[in-house]
Amino acid sequence: MLSRSLIGGLTALSFAVAVAAKGGQRHSKRTSDTSANSGELHDFQVYPPVLTASADAGGKNEYGCVVTQTLMDYDFANSYGVPYVGYYTPPDCDFNRVVIEFNLTSRGRQYDRLAILYFNSTELWRTSTAEPTQDGIFYTYKKEMHQYLPLWKEPQKIIFDLGNIVNSEYTGILNTTLTATFFTVPDTPAAADKILPISRLLGASNSSSVAVLPSEDTAVSYTLPRNLKRAVISVSACGQADEEFWYQNVFSSDTDTFVDVSPVLYGDGPWREVQVLIDGMLAGVSWPFPVIFTGGIVPGFWKPIVGIDAFDLREHEIDITPFIPYLSDGKPHTFNLVVVSVNDHGGEYATIANTTTDSWYVTGKIFLFEDEEGHITTGSMPVIKDPLPSLQITRSISTNSTGTNETLTETTTAKRSLLITSKLKTSSGEKEVSWSQDISYENFNQLIDYGWFQKTIQLTTGTDKTGSSIGYSLSYEYPFNCDWWYFESGEELGIYGNISRSLTFDVLGPSVFPNGVQASVLATSTGKDRLEISGVEKAFDSGGLGSSLRTSQTATGSYYSDDLTTTDPIYNFGSLNQTMSFQGVANDGSVETYSRNVGVVNSTITHDQTLFEVGKSSN
Ligand SMILES: *[C@@H]1O[C@H](CO)[C@@H](O)[C@H](O)[C@H]1NC(C)=O
Ligand SMILES: *[C@@H]1O[C@H](CO)[C@@H](O)[C@H](O)[C@H]1NC(C)=O
Ligand SMILES: *[C@@H]1O[C@H](CO)[C@@H](O)[C@H](O)[C@H]1NC(C)=O
Ligand SMILES: *[C@@H]1O[C@H](CO)[C@@H](O)[C@H](O)[C@H]1NC(C)=O
Ligand SMILES: *[C@@H]1O[C@H](CO)[C@@H](O)[C@H](O)[C@H]1NC(C)=O
Ligand SMILES: *[C@@H]1O[C@H](CO)[C@@H](O)[C@H](O)[C@H]1NC(C)=O
Ligand SMILES: *[C@@H]1O[C@H](CO)[C@@H](O)[C@H](O)[C@H]1NC(C)=O
Ligand SMILES: *[C@@H]1O[C@H](CO)[C@@H](O)[C@H](O)[C@H]1NC(C)=O
Ligand SMILES: *[C@@H]1O[C@H](CO)[C@@H](O)[C@H](O)[C@H]1NC(C)=O
Ligand SMILES: *[C@@H]1O[C@H](CO)[C@@H](O)[C@H](O)[C@H]1NC(C)=O
Repeated sequence: MLSRSLIGGLTALSFAVAVAAKGGQRHSKRTSDTSANSGELHDFQVYPPVLTASADAGGKNEYGCVVTQTLMDYDFANSYGVPYVGYYTPPDCDFNRVVIEFNLTSRGRQYDRLAILYFNSTELWRTSTAEPTQDGIFYTYKKEMHQYLPLWKEPQKIIFDLGNIVNSEYTGILNTTLTATFFTVPDTPAAADKILPISRLLGASNSSSVAVLPSEDTAVSYTLPRNLKRAVISVSACGQADEEFWYQNVFSSDTDTFVDVSPVLYGDGPWREVQVLIDGMLAGVSWPFPVIFTGGIVPGFWKPIVGIDAFDLREHEIDITPFIPYLSDGKPHTFNLVVVSVNDHGGEYATIANTTTDSWYVTGKIFLFEDEEGHITTGSMPVIKDPLPSLQITRSISTNSTGTNETLTETTTAKRSLLITSKLKTSSGEKEVSWSQDISYENFNQLIDYGWFQKTIQLTTGTDKTGSSIGYSLSYEYPFNCDWWYFESGEELGIYGNISRSLTFDVLGPSVFPNGVQASVLATSTGKDRLEISGVEKAFDSGGLGSSLRTSQTATGSYYSDDLTTTDPIYNFGSLNQTMSFQGVANDGSVETYSRNVGVVNSTITHDQTLFEVGKSSN
């Protein structure tokens, strides 16, 4: 049952892992004979392997052809507001899988930059760049894309928005290539039939369609097909500027606590919620994972291992199937995404503030799954139980003996449960459908030494579920701990910090985004419908797939520069350990385990062990 080219792809992948473990080899973007620069840094994100196919393993085969197309080959210099624009035409053969590969080289000084890939006005991928060095960096990132299959089947305008600035101070041009490889894998979960953007819809004018909240908004209006059987909205959102480190922001009442001594603090508290609104009704929420870009907190942390999800910002899925009877009336409906924060009412008590300061970069997508053509879905109107989240805060300030504010301590806790239910009548009968979310959050932020030192302890945990008729569930946990010391005076800047954080992401059932499980193409077996997660056996619905990802980073680092504008820092050091384990079960019962344990001191890999196993389950 196996295609040779797919096996070839995986072999190449395992090989790449093995090479990285020995310290890597030089990669060159354009030619293989570029002379090696021994100081070139090879950045990478630790993530589960992506199944791809090698075009050179054999052109056409029984599963369709294997084709690789170049989507972009472009150097980003002064590219603010001027995205790369190109055109995509589907390959002239059948495929159900697409994997993109992004390569970047850069040399010099540059900030981390945020980038978004669109087809027309629909965001496909949000990434950020690694900061270059004087000796140059290289990295490559692969991403599965078959969740967007209906888009890959049509011609598209490619818009890649990567705003960069090059001048005498920031010299790093970002040289990139992007390719897509098309192939076919039996049993690939079906993608949605249609995908609609929730964005500013600016693709026709060659612009980025992201909404920069709160000054812009994402509200769009669509008349949906009347034969839907499932619908999911995905949320892509990240904080920038005053909101980049939102989890370290203080209550708005406290931003001036140390104004005479240390730099100004950012407000709106440390809790954020992205709300999905359908005609103003709450359909679901996303409490964001604290993504840290490669210049974030202490830049030395992220050389060469970047932060969790920094190369691929995860989207949150909100199942809106209970709204289908409401949305199937053949009339236009409005879809919007907003980001809310904490109103601390002078430090007395907290309620939701319906906005944030600048800025949140937000888009969404509606994934539509259709019933038989001509059938009109009916049912009952959604019943929405969405009590306001409970938000609780405490704060205290202590002063030194002459009355200057010295320490600020704040705590924030939040909890939310929502449940949306309806009855859905499709061509296969009537069933109850539901969407529920139970999320809790706690944050401790303490600024001591007149604001020069900040300690943050945060934990977000949640469970999202559809009812059993769909059988999707997600459990997530985002612990985040950081100690951060900062000093600035004239041209001098010093930073010291350490961090310890994790992402746990356990998906069962039919997620819209691929759950990473590749095992079905590697092994065949029967009868297994259970997934082991940390010793706990979780049953999942027949035909369902599931995966469990746990990834953790601990790091220490320091930075010192005595001339912020013109030279590299005198000191820019970091040490990081990351452990990741990924386990998945395919619907044929095969079990896949991938784990990686890697450490770095001062940009040099000190250990790197990987394990990749595919087999039948033991019972
Ligand atoms: C991207 O980098 C990978 C890994 O070095 C390499 O195999 C591939 O050929 C590169 N792709 C392009 C288009 O340069
Ligand atoms: C990036 O491209 C520019 C030309 O646009 C070239 O001058 C530079 O050497 C390239 N940098 C790297 C690191 O390849
Ligand atoms: C996307 O862009 C392509 C190329 O410009 C165009 O043919 C297609 O109609 C567009 N699709 C949508 C949905 O706007
Ligand atoms: C969009 O970019 C393409 C490719 O550069 C160009 O041909 C086209 O004229 C541009 N369209 C607009 C509206 O600027
Ligand atoms: C002390 O902190 C409070 C709360 O932020 C602030 O209102 C007050 O102005 C601060 N006092 C001084 C002297 O900065
Ligand atoms: C947000 O709150 C402000 C102040 O309370 C209010 O004027 C505004 O209408 C609210 N906006 C929304 C979208 O609810
Ligand atoms: C209190 O803090 C202020 C600002 O740092 C400082 O000028 C003052 O000397 C401190 N008082 C004492 C008693 O240390
Ligand atoms: C940072 O290091 C200090 C001293 O070793 C330790 O007490 C603290 O727990 C660490 N914090 C984090 C977030 O790892
Ligand atoms: C990384 O792991 C090594 C070996 O276990 C340990 O000595 C080191 O302190 C760890 N570093 C960090 C930053 O966690
Ligand atoms: C880190 O490595 C650089 C160059 O490889 C070296 O100059 C520097 O001393 C090292 N720093 C530490 C703290 O080991």
